[in-house]
Amino acid sequence: MKVPFLDLKAHHQPIREQLDAAIAQVIDSGAFAGGPFVAAFEQDFATYCGARFAVGVGNGTDALWLSLLALGVAPGDEVITSPSTFMATAEAISFCGARPVFVDIDEQTYTLDPAQLDKAITPKTQAIIPVHLFGQTADMNPILEIASVNGIPVIEDACQAHGALYRGNRAGPMGIAGCFSFYPGKNLGAFGEAGAVVTNDRELEAKIKVLRDHGQARKYFHSHIGWNARMDGIQGAVLSVKLKQLDAGNARRRAHAKLYDELLGGIDEISTPFTAPNNQHVYHIYAVRVDNRDGVLRAMAEKGISCAIHYPIPVHLQEAYRSLGCGKGSFPVAERCAEEFLSLPMYPELSNEQIHAVAEALRSCVGSRMRCLVDGVGVDG
Ligand SMILES: Cc1ncc(COP(=O)(O)O)c(C=O)c1O
Repeated sequence: MKVPFLDLKAHHQPIREQLDAAIAQVIDSGAFAGGPFVAAFEQDFATYCGARFAVGVGNGTDALWLSLLALGVAPGDEVITSPSTFMATAEAISFCGARPVFVDIDEQTYTLDPAQLDKAITPKTQAIIPVHLFGQTADMNPILEIASVNGIPVIEDACQAHGALYRGNRAGPMGIAGCFSFYPGKNLGAFGEAGAVVTNDRELEAKIKVLRDHGQARKYFHSHIGWNARMDGIQGAVLSVKLKQLDAGNARRRAHAKLYDELLGGIDEISTPFTAPNNQHVYHIYAVRVDNRDGVLRAMAEKGISCAIHYPIPVHLQEAYRSLGCGKGSFPVAERCAEEFLSLPMYPELSNEQIHAVAEALRSCVGSRMRCLVDGVGVDG
């Protein structure tokens, strides 16, 4: 059986008429850049996240960058984050002229390890960005506590965690700002690029609104040097429709994860994901850990199962960040995970039959590797 990694067509099919109608409304109104459809989505999304405000922007990278700029992060500053993330988290820091400072991840949750946070804080630290990797929030209470003692704001990178819960709190407004990506493959995905910042801070909301629109609060009166980071009207309209499906989609993802856990949990060569107590995971990514990951990935592809890797190189080892001087061994947990992570197909419309097929294929791939090793031949050989 062929199983795609993601199936957006299947995701949109049941709500196709609503989506078509929403897009038609934008076309008829002409409100393509910002405007009432974006404002309506901002209101809906803020309410969903339990935040006072949401500001729609061009993408998740803009959300992170503008949040940092609005907090005054500038050249010479340091911002702490996780090396186990998509490049954008660190890029946003660098685009403010600041320096990313990494803290290794927890071996079980794959999110920033609060026990290692203190030692990374210096007088230059201006923000901390925990990343809610794969759809599980970081351990926010100790992070917020350490940040508060040191007077440092926390920005959540919630780009993979739409609707995730930490001790009953939605991802996003636990820190001063929470940043979301609505890249099409996310749990809440647009029909192109889009993102948002959620916050309870009125001043921050106002600043980000100005920065996303060329530094103007009033047309052609520019109080700041900003940027064009507005959300499109079509994205706002589409996201308002899709937001109504988010909880149902997340519940299905959790059910799929439970079935994967049951089918794969007893296999020694496979580590299934861990959810911390009091967390509600939304499984943007269902990543297992296996030895010889690249060989297993290829063997799965040969069986028609599309898997992916998030991410093969931790950010501190990316060529672009060579100048930071963090060599191999700097963040051993993130480095080990990058070698072992294998993301299995995960989307709400996945059928139980497909999940069984993926699990069976994985079982045989790691099993054949074991046999190859016994014979003294690597699966890659
Ligand atoms: C953890 C994380 N941060 C930031 C981003 C950037 O979001 P965007 O691609 O919408 O700019 C992403 C997107 O994949 C992400 O996964």
